[in-house]
This record gives sequence, C-alpha cells and structure tokens, in this order.
Amino acid sequence: MTDTLKHLQKATCIATTNIAFVKYWGRINDALRLPMNGSISMNLDSAFTTTTVEFDESLTADLFSLANQPADAKQSARVFSHVDRIRAMAGIQTRARVASENNFPTGAGIASSASAFAALSVATAKAAGLSLPERELTLLARQGSGSACRSVPAGFVEWHYGETNEASFAEQIAPPEHWDIRDLIAITQTTHKEVGSADGNKLVSTSPFNETRVKLAGASLNIIRRAILEKNWTTFGEETEREAIRLHVIAMTSQPPIYYWSPVTLAIIQAVTEWRRDGLEAYFTIDAGANVHVLAKAEDADEVENRLWQQEGVKIVLHNKPGMGAQVVESHLF
Ligand code: DP6
Repeated sequence: MTDTLKHLQKATCIATTNIAFVKYWGRINDALRLPMNGSISMNLDSAFTTTTVEFDESLTADLFSLANQPADAKQSARVFSHVDRIRAMAGIQTRARVASENNFPTGAGIASSASAFAALSVATAKAAGLSLPERELTLLARQGSGSACRSVPAGFVEWHYGETNEASFAEQIAPPEHWDIRDLIAITQTTHKEVGSADGNKLVSTSPFNETRVKLAGASLNIIRRAILEKNWTTFGEETEREAIRLHVIAMTSQPPIYYWSPVTLAIIQAVTEWRRDGLEAYFTIDAGANVHVLAKAEDADEVENRLWQQEGVKIVLHNKPGMGAQVVESHLF
C-alpha cells in the first residue's frame, strides 16, 4: 500500500438544503462564485442530500449516480470538476465513485444544488483524508454552488460578500434551536425548471434594476440579521418578502427575461397576504422556481400547512424546522 492510499477513505455526508431570506442573485466572479451581495439563510431539516464518496484505485474514471441512476453528462461534469478541486488540495489522483440521493424532487425550485454541493464537499474532503475547518469547507462548497456554502454551518447562516476566495465564507449567526420558526414549502411543480440558477445568475447585469437591488440587499442583510437575533417576527417577515420580490424583478427584467412564477405561485402570494389581514401572520419567499416557501411561527405552522394543502395546484407541502449543518455520518479508513 502506498502512503497516499493509507489516507484514502470512503465517507458519507448528509447536508440539508437552505432557504435564503437575503438572496444570492448575481456574481462578481463566475469562476470562484463570488456573489454581488452577502446573503442570509436557514437550513431546512426535512430536505436533504445524502452523498457517499469512495476513492478507488481500480477506477479509470470518476462515476456519479443520482438516486441510483447514472447521472447525465452535464451534472456529472460539474461534480467531477468539484472532486478535482479537492483532489488537487489533497495531492491525489485516484478516481472516485460518487453516489447521491435527495429526499425531495431535484430541480423543482428547492435549492438542490445547495445540499448537493455541501454534502459533496464535506464527503469528498473527508474521503480524501483532508481535515478542514468549517470555514474552509464553506469556501470549497461555494465554488461548487454558491448557496451550498450556507448549508455547511448549522441553523441560521450568513454568507459574506468578499472580493477574494478567502473573504467570501459562510458562518453561523445562530444555532437551529435559537428560534423555532417553520418553512412550509408549497411544491407546485416537480419537473425540472427551465432556467437553472447557474444560468439566471449570469444575466443579472442585463437588468436595469440590478444595481439598486444589490444596494438594497446590503441594507436587508443588517435588518434581517438583527431581526433573527432579536426574534422580531414582523420585521423579519416583511423584509424577507421584499427581498424575494426584488430577486424576481431582476429575473423578469433580465435579457432574456425569466418568469419563474406560475399562476399557482401568484395565487399563494395573494392567499398569504390575505391570511395576514385576517391575523395569521405568515410570510412568503420564492427562489428560482414556482414553489412558494411560506414562513410561519411554530404555533401557526399546522394551520398554514393545512391551508396550503387546500390551495389549488399545490402538490406537496414540506414542513421544515431550522436544520443542522453538514455532517459526516459514516467514514472508513482502508
Ligand atoms: C435563488 O446557488 O443554485 O436560490 O452558484 O450557480 O449554483 P450557483 O447558484 P445557486 O443559486 C441560488 C439562488 C437562489 C437564492 C439563494 O439561495 O440565495
């Protein structure tokens, strides 16, 4: 056995996805995935990816399976180039077998790339024998998919704006048990969306409103961070809704424009606004897809969930609490 081989392992990691309250939409550096603004999110305990990475001397090429099926060429290339990054750090060349599984529909507007690249980064680093501090793991995950860096730490997380690789890391603002709020995800479509966020992110500069959104996102960061720390539900909810709408204004005014909403999306926006008028204080946020995340206080969550199930066009409602950070659940040293 060579020296290198002794340190190679097989490792399995579970990482949750996250929902951003201040969102990442647009980059100053595409290669490093450095965002135009900082963002804040919460990990979602019921939506996660489980990834196993095994380095194997007998392989002549990397292999990637998703839900026990060989993944398509585009997805595989993105995964392999991320594994390459980690191989370069570890100084190894051995090929890997990567097996990944989501417990929610892939590509349907739940940020599957966030949990996917957080799990992939942490499992691959472990299997390659690297022992990296959390901050380094966030830098690594960010280069695979921007939002993935926020799925590495637990609970409520901020990803910082920075002009270098090292400056744009993610860190915890508060642990999951700090604030028992809920995210009820109303899934309105389970097929692949038309324009992925990787492509949407590249179009922001074509919107005449982008500079304004980036400026306002900076202000939202301070408002939302503080609202989370002080558990100020109304400020938190109102600012989160405004921020989400601004992302969609950018998408809809990009060239070419991207319309992520379906009629069901708008119907839920209107319903949540009405519920609030009747005293049920829930708020919505929407990522790059037609699904709606409805944020509720713990005591209102079941009522909100029931109402969402009754909404026409809603296929599934996923009930999430603040989630854990990326965890290695199994590893073997050969
Ligand atoms: C709308 O992290 O998926 O969910 O870096 O290109 O992989 P890439 O983009 P991605 O973008 C997520 C965008 C968003 C907002 C957010 O989660 O902050």
